[in-house]
Amino acid sequence: MDKLIIKGGKKLTGEVSVSGSKNAALPIFISTILAPGLNEIRNVPFLRDINTTIKVLESLGAVVEGNGNIVRIDTTHVNNVEATYDLVKTMRASVLVLGPLLARHGRARVSLPGGCAIGARPINLHLKGLAALGADIRLEHGYVEAKAKRLKGARINFDIATVGGTEQLMMAAALAKGETVLENAAREPEIIDLADILNRMGAKIEGAGTDTIRITGVKELAPVTHDVMPDRIEAGTFMVAAAITGGDIKIRNMKLEHLDALVFKLQDAGVEITNRDNVVRVKGPRRPRAINIKTRPYPGFPTDMQAQFMALMCVADGASVISENIFENRFMHVSELLRFGADITIEGNTATVKGVKKLSGAPVMATDLRASASLILAGLAADNTTEISRIYHLDRGYDSIEKKLAGLGADIKRVKES
Ligand code: EPU
Repeated sequence: MDKLIIKGGKKLTGEVSVSGSKNAALPIFISTILAPGLNEIRNVPFLRDINTTIKVLESLGAVVEGNGNIVRIDTTHVNNVEATYDLVKTMRASVLVLGPLLARHGRARVSLPGGCAIGARPINLHLKGLAALGADIRLEHGYVEAKAKRLKGARINFDIATVGGTEQLMMAAALAKGETVLENAAREPEIIDLADILNRMGAKIEGAGTDTIRITGVKELAPVTHDVMPDRIEAGTFMVAAAITGGDIKIRNMKLEHLDALVFKLQDAGVEITNRDNVVRVKGPRRPRAINIKTRPYPGFPTDMQAQFMALMCVADGASVISENIFENRFMHVSELLRFGADITIEGNTATVKGVKKLSGAPVMATDLRASASLILAGLAADNTTEISRIYHLDRGYDSIEKKLAGLGADIKRVKES
């Protein structure tokens, strides 16, 4: 197992380029099941979750070939309709194969993902939506068994704006008979990227990015070439890295408009952000001001940036109140941040962070993907040395983050844990 060693206190400077989005790439890869033939996906990040998605597609019969950031997925012979527990338990997003398999083959058998470190994360709304499209759904031996001759369009009103649920239903409805309307749909940019590739394949989807998505089913879809959007959470993590070190960096290949909620909060905290010719410059203050945040579905403040923003608030001037409203258990980074000397108390879904002048480097343990990023950020700002173990979480979702940070002048290296 690898760990990261960081010697904190360096102000970050220079330029960094953002990779393709993990949370857009995963459903996009899976959507190729709907378009038999050779699909080409570009701007693919190097991540463990991408490798897992490739394994899932291969287990279904796809032939996948990678060349740098380009991945070719031939889905001509996707004939197996079962996604096993072994694969789904490693990555819950694998459950998104359910809708496409059902739409293409009329049946699917997919393992239930089970719990997750950050919350229960049920898939009841995915299943309710597929049932509304006419699927016969049974839960047996830990698997979802779904059948439908041909799915039929329906009006679906989500109880919660769910990203995965919206993606699942958009893919299933693309080949259904008639019109499907998704109400209270998630509005994340990744949903728009998925709708874009599906439309290019020949689907008829309108309204992605709003809370009402209309899908007119078509008989078949054809393979395409598609470029994955930039990773807004990776970009946001670099913005906080500049902010927390009092650095001055330029970020390329990002879409600032995807991060409005974060940008406003960073600006309130005293961070200077400018966008010239699609290069975003981020200049940290001497010490950030304390700012309150509440996580919300897009366009609200992203839960995937909560841990990183908390790391910044640990060194802010004043007290910040952070409420997590998407997942029930997404404060696992708190007990690790305390090891840096942070002053944080939790009550229910709210953390109160009293900023301290300086964090002190410590040995810590990563507990989930975004928690890992928050520990790196704390380590960059802390004095002395920080050692972060269990960074396999990080490798699921950040493409070469230690190399990119080292390129910005951070003293960070990956070593094998003895
Ligand atoms: N929910 C239900 N029932 C469902 C589906 C969701 O109750 O059937 C609940 C969840 O338990 C959660 C809330 O609805 O409390 C929102 O969950 P959502 O379905 O939107 O999340 P997701 O699709 O499972 C994606 C990202 C997450 C990100 C969330 C929220 C991917 C692969 N994952 O998860 O990314 O936090 O949306 O924005 O797109 C990460 O990258 O670190 C990460 C966890």
